[in-house]
Amino acid sequence: MEQTFIMIKPDGVQRGLVGEIISRFEKKGFSLKALKFVNVDRQFAESHYADLSAKPFFSGLVDYIISGPVVAMVWEGKGVVLTGRKIIGATNPLASEPGTIRGDFAIDIGRNVIHGSDSVESGNKEIALWFPEGVVHWQSSLHSWIYE
Ligand code: RTP
Ligand code: MG
Repeated sequence: MEQTFIMIKPDGVQRGLVGEIISRFEKKGFSLKALKFVNVDRQFAESHYADLSAKPFFSGLVDYIISGPVVAMVWEGKGVVLTGRKIIGATNPLASEPGTIRGDFAIDIGRNVIHGSDSVESGNKEIALWFPEGVVHWQSSLHSWIYE
């Protein structure tokens, strides 16, 4: 089934939003497949955001991501990449709908609390980067209550 890479950024950790954010993905019915709490170094953050390396905000973005620990996760479920992006909300929190994570908990684009993969392909790439050891193989006993 489809998987996505979700990261709670340093501001989300510092602001005590870890439980709230995990809860939103859990309650939707998605399955947690991997999770770790880590500090990443500059080189690692640069490779995670390599696609944005030409952007003027790139070095500020990297500074932000390495400014404190992050929660890295893999979530699995039908349509989890696109639906995960909807749960997260628009990149600029001022444009994010209320009810989304960024819409409810953020104001500035450079403090937007959470990252989510933007396609299945980049999700797979990010999962391989963050979890070279692989993910946990399990199936929730609620599966048949979530999927028909
Ligand atoms: P993310 O990758 O973190 O999930 O965010 P996203 O897809 O919604 O947005 P993306 O274009 O991939 O940008 C990555 C992160 O860079 C910061 N950003 N700053 N100052 C700016 O104009 C600007 N634009 C983007 C944000 O933290 C954004 O989440
Ligand atoms: Mg992105």
